[in-house]
Amino acid sequence: MRRWFILGAAALAVQLSAQPPRPPAPAKPTLPDAPGRATVLQACGSSCHGPEIVAGKGYSRDNWATVVNSMISRGAKASGAEFGEIIDYLAKNLPPRTGKAGAGGVGFIGSGPDDAHLVDGEAAERGKSVYVAECITCHGNRARGGPDSLPPPQRGADLVRSLVVLKDRYGATIGEFLKKGHPLQSGKPSASLASAQVLDLAHFLHLKVNDTLRSGPFSSPVNVLTGDVKAGEQYFNGAGGCNKCHSVTGDLAGVGKRYDPTGLQQKFLFPKSFSAGRGRGAAGGNIKPVTLRVTPAGGATVSGVLLHLDDFNVSLRDDQGEYRTWTRVPSLKVEKIDPYQAHVDLLDKYTDKNMHDIVAYLESIK
Ligand code: HEC
Ligand code: HEC
Repeated sequence: MRRWFILGAAALAVQLSAQPPRPPAPAKPTLPDAPGRATVLQACGSSCHGPEIVAGKGYSRDNWATVVNSMISRGAKASGAEFGEIIDYLAKNLPPRTGKAGAGGVGFIGSGPDDAHLVDGEAAERGKSVYVAECITCHGNRARGGPDSLPPPQRGADLVRSLVVLKDRYGATIGEFLKKGHPLQSGKPSASLASAQVLDLAHFLHLKVNDTLRSGPFSSPVNVLTGDVKAGEQYFNGAGGCNKCHSVTGDLAGVGKRYDPTGLQQKFLFPKSFSAGRGRGAAGGNIKPVTLRVTPAGGATVSGVLLHLDDFNVSLRDDQGEYRTWTRVPSLKVEKIDPYQAHVDLLDKYTDKNMHDIVAYLESIK
């Protein structure tokens, strides 16, 4: 059997070499011959993919620059000068092709399919994590806009129909939009998102746009329930240390009924954030305040709700409702107690898997 195979292969090789060379397959576009081509082949061809990913496309210089930047952030290797040469080559030799009607209903924004954002699946997957952590509560698990249960200032826009997203290429427009300032679930300034995160988000949002164009408005919601209930339970009682403060038969009893999965995830990631749950009423209704314990030298400890704390002064409202204030001196002991600090610290510890497992576990507590 094996012998036959080898003979067959040898015969085929002879037959192939006997034939005149074939013309290159027409389906594979090639790169135009011009200065810089060798550098493009070397940087784009050797590392992640073949040069055919760029051949046959047509973009403006700006868009080529963003494509190349996205390649750099994914590990393409070349010197700064070489990247300049690459962008130059691509912009001159692969300019946007005009006059072509856009397919898939996106022609109205004036960019044909040649100018579309090419979705990178892995980047989109990373972008999904950013979306879930920072956007999903307001923009919904299909990116089609926030749930009607949210009051208007929090109900996010439909991002699949958003011009900011449709016009975006490789995070350029989305990044600009976010730089101007936009709410994030974590409460951090939106300009603090790293450019790699914005790029990943862009891949994810373009994927949602493509999904919707392909299969209608009800396609593939982001499923936040992909975790493993058992692993979540183990993490809760083990490495996560959640059981030190919570009990699933006490304060967290029925937590899976109180919030939908997205709200649940939001709640345990950022318990201080506004409520996205079912039947829990107004936004952030029962946020616990940060408290202080202040002990002057030789005096009794006063505790109360933090009103002001900086390097020079500290003030609080004590348990009797009195306003108390001190000048900060080295002998004055000040302890700050943020009931949510444990959750803030946990944010740095969760892996994506822990996060999904916990959500699955909490959701199962009905
Ligand atoms: C607290 C709720 C909230 C969060 C969190 C939030 N958004 Fe928004 N977003 C809104 C609201 C409300 C609007 C509509 C009003 C506006 O444009 O500011 C909006 C509008 C947008 C728009 C413009 C849509 C258009 O075409 O007018 C984009 C793009 C956008 N959001 C992206 C994001 C991304 C990406 C994230 C996460 C990184 C995010 N948003 C997080 C509430 C939110
Ligand atoms: C050091 C104490 C502490 C630890 C550890 C801790 N939490 Fe919390 N958690 C809190 C406090 C305090 C709140 C706020 C409760 C409130 O606002 O009513 C909270 C809120 C929550 C909420 C929202 C409950 C609600 O009904 O809105 C969830 C869900 C939650 N935590 C899950 C977890 C999980 C899962 C872990 C482990 C990965 C964890 N917590 C670890 C103290 C802690």
